[in-house]
Amino acid sequence: MRIPIIAGNWKMFKDRDEALKFIYVVTDRLPLKDKVESVICAPSVFLRSLVKRQGEQLRIGAQNMHFADQGAYTGEISADMLKSINVEYVIIGHSERRAMFNETDESVNKKLHQAFKNDLNPILCVGESLEVRESGKTEELVGRQVELALEGLEKTKVSKLIIAYEPIWAIGTGKTATSEQAEEMCKFIRNKVRNLYDEKTADKMRIQYGGSVKLSNIDELMNMPNIDGALIGGASLNPEDFIKLVEAALK
Ligand code: PGA
Repeated sequence: MRIPIIAGNWKMFKDRDEALKFIYVVTDRLPLKDKVESVICAPSVFLRSLVKRQGEQLRIGAQNMHFADQGAYTGEISADMLKSINVEYVIIGHSERRAMFNETDESVNKKLHQAFKNDLNPILCVGESLEVRESGKTEELVGRQVELALEGLEKTKVSKLIIAYEPIWAIGTGKTATSEQAEEMCKFIRNKVRNLYDEKTADKMRIQYGGSVKLSNIDELMNMPNIDGALIGGASLNPEDFIKLVEAALK
């Protein structure tokens, strides 16, 4: 049995007051974490404040990190830094970072190795553009993203990995993939991991769907056999909605 996981991705939204207000509203109201994992991936400047107030059921994640241990990388953050302030999750390879900040399959792979080396739980994002979908090459592209991201990772690590399938055309657009389209790709990703590793690894690994997930579509998505949770941008900014989205994953 895979424990569902709902992760909010705040992107570059909220100031300190808003971030703290959110945490005060949700703490103590989230379901038990052995029933559903709740994670907020916040801007790095707020991570320490949020970790201090996360309570029993919420976990805190970063939205990115560098793959090196340390070094002259102005503006970057290392896995060790995140670990030292008790951050537990990190999003790797979000499509916005791939499109706007030169994130490549190679750097994604290095970051995954680095996250596991530092005992962080990575959420690996993959997904196709509208152009790729319309040209019928979705599986080819997503399959390649998964294969390159996982290169050199042992199966014990991969079984703990969280992959978020996020079609770029559904992110922040209000246009969600249908639950059938989402399930089809999450199933494809699980099969890919089964082929690269084995049955047990693929069965343990959790796969989220992301892209305009909201209260009106989460139930349908969570009913799909290969969808173990969601990575949620816009709808995760409101604390009351976030609580309801996590509760929806319980059912
Ligand atoms: P969205 O973003 O829910 O606002 O579409 C999802 C994401 O980018 O992770």
